[in-house]
Amino acid sequence: MIVFLQGFWRLGRQEKERSVATLSWVNKEENLKKAVKNSATLLKVNLNLSYGDQEAENMLIQGDNLEALQALLPTYAGQVKCIFIDPPYNTRKTFDHYKDSLHHSQWLEMMYLRLEVLREILAEDGSIWVTIDDNESHYLKVLMDEIFGRKNFLANCIWQKKCGPCNDTQYFSAVHDHILAFAKNKKRWKPNLLKRSDQMNAKYTNPDHDPRGVWHPTNLSAKTFCKRNTYPIVSPLGKEFLPPATRSWVVSEEKYQALLADNRIWFGAKGNTRPYKKTYLSEVLQGAVPTTLWLHSEAGHNAEAKHEAKVLNGEDVFTTPKPERLLQRILHLATHENDLVLDSFLGSGTTAAVAHKMKRRYIGIEKGEHVKTHCAPRLQKVIDGEQGGISQEVNWQGGGGYRFYTLTDSLLTDKRIELPTAPHPQSWHKKQDVPFPFPEVPRWVDTAQSLVLP
Ligand SMILES: C[S@@+](CC[C@H](N)C(=O)[O-])C[C@H]1O[C@@H](n2cnc3c(N)ncnc32)[C@H](O)[C@@H]1O
Repeated sequence: MIVFLQGFWRLGRQEKERSVATLSWVNKEENLKKAVKNSATLLKVNLNLSYGDQEAENMLIQGDNLEALQALLPTYAGQVKCIFIDPPYNTRKTFDHYKDSLHHSQWLEMMYLRLEVLREILAEDGSIWVTIDDNESHYLKVLMDEIFGRKNFLANCIWQKKCGPCNDTQYFSAVHDHILAFAKNKKRWKPNLLKRSDQMNAKYTNPDHDPRGVWHPTNLSAKTFCKRNTYPIVSPLGKEFLPPATRSWVVSEEKYQALLADNRIWFGAKGNTRPYKKTYLSEVLQGAVPTTLWLHSEAGHNAEAKHEAKVLNGEDVFTTPKPERLLQRILHLATHENDLVLDSFLGSGTTAAVAHKMKRRYIGIEKGEHVKTHCAPRLQKVIDGEQGGISQEVNWQGGGGYRFYTLTDSLLTDKRIELPTAPHPQSWHKKQDVPFPFPEVPRWVDTAQSLVLP
């Protein structure tokens, strides 16, 4: 029954929203079908490894993310506002804490299965952000188009991860990663604005001592031609201007006269340059729309992340962390306080640490032992008021907590679900404080230790 249902939501959705073009690889369908049958696990809380306020609703999960996500699904489907993942890029390297070398088709399969469940767990107004480099980025884009729909693609942000080139590189020195962003439903997704930088505001001045404050001269011509908005404008010194060829003014003549009368048109300090519209700082959006180019000065870089990792654990430095500022930018754009954030390739715990400091709730999943040696100690420091990374910028003072979970062995053996042995099996999951992952199985089964599936 469960097997059938787990396969059903995959195939059901694919039937409904079949993409026009999909990515294919050897034995794709067969392998994907096989893989979804294999998981039936529960989450088990470990209070010894949990820390701080136990009611804080933050989860640190050790285990394979596909199984963990499937166990979370019945409780958390449609609940997560922002997913950030930084999966192994398939660089064919072995890092200190994990291997990053799969056959290309295995990597695609691994990602496909996880992205499908991640889509189910995402809220209707949520978004997913994936960092990746040129080893797999273009394949991943097509895969994500297939799963999330081309119409929900938000951006491929270019993040400048390095400040300079590696001069011993044979061909090109890669100084950027891609960040692929998709909405669950683009019509429902709205980014928050970024803080305006001092550099952005510096271009606003007040050469004519306008009582409305500093302003910036903006182009009065638009690139689309409109006959109605093509008329001569005469400067205070009597010089006549027409919009440049193929362009027209941004406003009608009537609107222009109103702007002129309100001292909102600028002809240069001497009154003889072509006209500009005065745009006041007080009237522009109280923030900046995000662009697709993320410079290291704004979003951090790899060396900064490595430094943060060293400060946190100098004995055993995590090799491929992301900087806290990168996560801060993503969580700022995609979430509000108290929203739920998920990272299923948690690594050294950057997403959880940043979410915690930004007062978001979070679920972090990591299969390696470093969930205990790096993520948990890092979050403990955060809870105790750690002052590295973004702490000072967000005025982090400490507090909160998380619960640590592991996964049970699969409960599914052939056609049976083996319920965990406990004095009162019906309340086992309640006692362990775990979401019950099988809504189809009656929770009140109290005598049977196993259920035979149809
Ligand atoms: C590139 S690292 C993430 C680094 C992280 N963003 C940070 O700032 O520290 C990728 C992580 O994904 C983990 N991982 C890989 N496959 C996984 C799986 N199937 N389930 C859970 N974690 C996995 C690896 O152990 C590794 O720690």
